[in-house]
Amino acid sequence: MKMKPKTNPTILAIESSCDDTAVAIWKDGSLKSNIIASQEIHKNYGGVIPELASRAHMQHIVPTTSIALKDANIALEELDAIAYTQTPGLMGSLLVGASFGKSLAQSLSIPSIPIHHLQAHILAHFIAAPKPDFPFLCLTVSGGHTQLVLCNGPLEMRILGSTIDDAAGEAFDKVAKMLGFPYPGGPYIDKYAQNGNPNAFLFPIANVPDFDYSFSGIKTAVMYFLQREVNKDPNFIENNIEDICASVQYTIIKTLLQKLSKAQKQYKIKHIGIAGGVSANSGLRKAFKDWAEKKSCESYIPDFEYCTDNAGMIAVTAYYKYLAGDFGDLRTVPKAKSPIPEVYG
Ligand code: KG4
Ligand code: ZN
Repeated sequence: MKMKPKTNPTILAIESSCDDTAVAIWKDGSLKSNIIASQEIHKNYGGVIPELASRAHMQHIVPTTSIALKDANIALEELDAIAYTQTPGLMGSLLVGASFGKSLAQSLSIPSIPIHHLQAHILAHFIAAPKPDFPFLCLTVSGGHTQLVLCNGPLEMRILGSTIDDAAGEAFDKVAKMLGFPYPGGPYIDKYAQNGNPNAFLFPIANVPDFDYSFSGIKTAVMYFLQREVNKDPNFIENNIEDICASVQYTIIKTLLQKLSKAQKQYKIKHIGIAGGVSANSGLRKAFKDWAEKKSCESYIPDFEYCTDNAGMIAVTAYYKYLAGDFGDLRTVPKAKSPIPEVYG
């Protein structure tokens, strides 16, 4: 194994935890390419079908890697390490990226770096300026996760709270499905909410202790609400779509900001960010920025392309792990579930 601990490594990073095959190249302290092959096939089924996802990863992984290398003008021989998402995610999807990544590293005699997907969503804030200072409080909101994490350094993280059931993105997607939108429906709710009245309909905010979240209640509340209203007026959804979307979105955002506010107050943090696919939501972005301004905090939201699943965030995390000498080997295996490694100094 060629181990040359450089201070300026060139890294190829792979993300394949769910339904996007993504490859990025990191060189000279910044991203040189960031390629994503999305899987349209799941739209036909209203959700991600794990078996179809892993088959599509197998088809996409080699061409996506070639495009990423070409785009960055990098030859395989120039690479110092290969990073891949190890956990959490769909096992079949993770296996494709992990097997490919480890094999490529082995064939080039360079180290492989297993990456925690949620750690990477947080470190997406460090791909490009403006980068937060530490201590940094981050709310990760994605299709699979909702989590509040306190960071004291790039690899020093402590989980303050998580969802006890559905993720915020799941709530968006499940309500969107009830409203007849295709999967993933979060962006449709965002679009229709823009012209709606957020106070038109009232939905409950779950009462969960500490810094944890719960989003299964709003999904059920919306389901019963729609059943009741559609019984009275079969065109209710069609006639009120903007107000329904705005009201649901308002409730989800209010829930998210309540716990963020509590954590900010308790830990007196001044640098605060949101990460993950749901941070692409225009309502959340605005509410978060307004809230941070009121609290005299610096607010950070990664560029749109780094909010949803991407390999750029895997690359920047790999960069910090490389500098820390934190590598995997051929025995490192993917895990469908596991918490962010907690180290907090
Ligand atoms: O981080 P991500 O790409 O994948 C996971 O790791 O889950 O997040 C995907 C989630 C989906 O639930 C999708 O509906 C949601 O992010 N999402 C949005 C928006 N854009 C993506 N939700 C609300 N508004 C948006 N604009
Ligand atoms: Zn994600």
